[in-house]
Amino acid sequence: MALYPLVRPLAFALDAERAHRLTIRALKMLPAGQPAEADPALSIQVAGLDFPNAVGLAAGFDKDAEVFREMLGFGFGFVEIGTVTPVPQAGNPKPRLFRLAEDRAVINRMGFNNRGQAAALARLQKRSRRGGIVGVNIGANKDSPDRVADYAAGVRAMLGVADYLSVNISSPNTPGLRGLQDKGALDELLAAVIEARGAGPPVFLKVAPDLDAEAIDDVARVAIHRKVDALIIANTTVSRPVLRSPHREQAGGLSGAPLKALALERLRDFRRATGGAMPLIAVGGIENGVDAFDRIRAGASLVQLYTALVYQGPGVAQAINAELKRLMALEGFARLTDAVGTERPG
Ligand SMILES: Cc1cc2nc3c(=O)[nH]c(=O)nc-3n(C[C@H](O)[C@H](O)[C@H](O)COP(=O)(O)O)c2cc1C
Repeated sequence: MALYPLVRPLAFALDAERAHRLTIRALKMLPAGQPAEADPALSIQVAGLDFPNAVGLAAGFDKDAEVFREMLGFGFGFVEIGTVTPVPQAGNPKPRLFRLAEDRAVINRMGFNNRGQAAALARLQKRSRRGGIVGVNIGANKDSPDRVADYAAGVRAMLGVADYLSVNISSPNTPGLRGLQDKGALDELLAAVIEARGAGPPVFLKVAPDLDAEAIDDVARVAIHRKVDALIIANTTVSRPVLRSPHREQAGGLSGAPLKALALERLRDFRRATGGAMPLIAVGGIENGVDAFDRIRAGASLVQLYTALVYQGPGVAQAINAELKRLMALEGFARLTDAVGTERPG
């Protein structure tokens, strides 16, 4: 981990996607560490699952479930693999992944490149059930004639291996996908997903940060009605706050530091809209303990990150957890659970 400052310039000299591929390959050669021990101050129960700490790895880094053990070994409290689709797909033409180093950001238009459910399932089946919390993020194939059926198939395929399922209807890189957030379509989708889940693991719904007030209310109402177990707020944004990098005009979803304010605002919106009816999971621009603590006080029970891993390396989870503990002590919280939602709603 202390090596990352040395490795980063080498990785950043490469095309971003090549660097990612090499990183996954290198991680696969590591001896898998032990999943994080539950820390009494940081552990938290969400949707019936006992998270050893609240800092998770967001979807998209380990799309094919290749390195979840290794990432758990770096101290992440949970890892979300995927997005996986029923049939393998190549995704969009390259280049499709851009580092905006000046902005501590990334733009991606990967388009759900993945090797499909069967490949991920085979890897997940080899894991010991006691080895940390692994969520499976499911999506639909770009050319699928029936996207709802794709999600239901994803749920059924992963029932035996996922600690939780995450329904991703918020990627900006599959045309029309975000239309599933419209209330009629969402209701139909969630009905199918919840039925397919049966007595299986909790179902989380991952939403976009680019929703207006009416859409937020609709999504919240449908999610409550269909008894979704938690909301993940949020995916990448198609908006473009002020950016400095020459890549700022690239099409795709923006993540990292410039997403921070928007993702926090959406978290607050969804807290208001759900009125505490379900747990919230915050993601988007979280880089340090202050960011994580802000989200927790704004109502998040868990946080996730991806882009901060690119810029800070795999020590980021442990660094955030250490800082969280310090902030909690300063503010007089003995347990993270006690800090959730302590910010006064605006
Ligand atoms: C390269 C890349 C690929 C991603 N792929 C997925 C994906 O397959 N499914 C998904 O739900 N989110 C995906 N995301 C979104 C992240 O999970 C996360 O919601 C978003 O990046 C905001 O968090 P961050 O600012 O910490 O990166 C991806 C993000 C990046 C940067």
